[in-house]
Amino acid sequence: MDDLRDKYLGQIAEAADEAALEELRVAAVGKKGEVSLKMRELGKMTPEERQVAGPKLNALKDEINSALAAKKVALEDAALDARLAEEWLDVTLPSRERPRGTIHPVSQVTEEVTAILADMGFAVAEGPQIESDWYNFDALNIPSHHPARTEMDTFYMARATGDNRPPHVLRTHTSPVQIRSMQEHGAPIRIICPGRVYRADYDQTHTPMFHQVEGLAIDKDISMANLKWVLEEFFSAYFGTKVKTRFRASHFPFTEPSAEVDIQCSFEGGQVKVGEGDGWLEVLGSGMVHPKVLEAGGIDPAEWQGFAFGMGIDRMAMLKYGIPDLRAFFDSDLRWLRHYGFSALQVPTLHGGL
Ligand code: DAH
Repeated sequence: MDDLRDKYLGQIAEAADEAALEELRVAAVGKKGEVSLKMRELGKMTPEERQVAGPKLNALKDEINSALAAKKVALEDAALDARLAEEWLDVTLPSRERPRGTIHPVSQVTEEVTAILADMGFAVAEGPQIESDWYNFDALNIPSHHPARTEMDTFYMARATGDNRPPHVLRTHTSPVQIRSMQEHGAPIRIICPGRVYRADYDQTHTPMFHQVEGLAIDKDISMANLKWVLEEFFSAYFGTKVKTRFRASHFPFTEPSAEVDIQCSFEGGQVKVGEGDGWLEVLGSGMVHPKVLEAGGIDPAEWQGFAFGMGIDRMAMLKYGIPDLRAFFDSDLRWLRHYGFSALQVPTLHGGL
């Protein structure tokens, strides 16, 4: 029995891994293990012999089992230590750089403009970018022979010969959304519509796709004075400084009377600064909605009246953030986007000064 004890305790101490340990367990105390076989022999012994050998064998079995268990824990600990030694991580190292995008100035300014006008009670409306020529022109009192149709350098959708659907265009302004909103909601109504518009034009201040925001307010007693107040409040909130405006009599088919609006600015060293100096910069078109436009929108001009305005969003971004060339807005040049883009966390709010 002592031989068995020495043999197994010695081998258990030497076991290199859990598999070797398991083999030893089977060989010693498994069903057909050496110790188990010895225990079976107890039956053949005399009671006196059994009384001596029984407890000894049981003690040996216990001893081997606890040696196996202890070695198992020791092997596991050693394995863990080895892993810990190998798989270490220096948490003080700088992290790997991850690609990070920016918010495009057009998106940022759209948010800013929307926040200011929403605060004044305007809801956001949207319309399709591919528009029928009725919504884009006729309903806005621009009949087919009207020069405004050609002045706007319109993109027409191709039509197969024999396709008799009414002509469609890439909308040349956001004004058709006035008609759609009036038809959908009736009066009174107060909406703005920011969105993409298209004209065949390309130079430093024109791109074939650009952005406008349309405004429309219809009620029983809305006047030009309300328009002026809304725009002055808007410009001051947007530029963060009191901005003087100048209303110049103008002409648009969809408004009567019509006004183009200039904002006060200085031009020094090729830089435009809004809200100072004695220069003027034209930034939008506006007026009192023409009775024919109200009618096209399903609203009775004898009962309702209101103002509308249309403004270039890209232009507003260039002025506020000092961006010189419009074409670069849509070049997708990462250097430009990183320079003029905004952090996703910089959400424009009125209380944050936008
Ligand atoms: N639709 C005009 C344009 O694209 C801008 C405009 C002028 C919109 C006067 C209006 C308005 O709502 O009343 O140039």
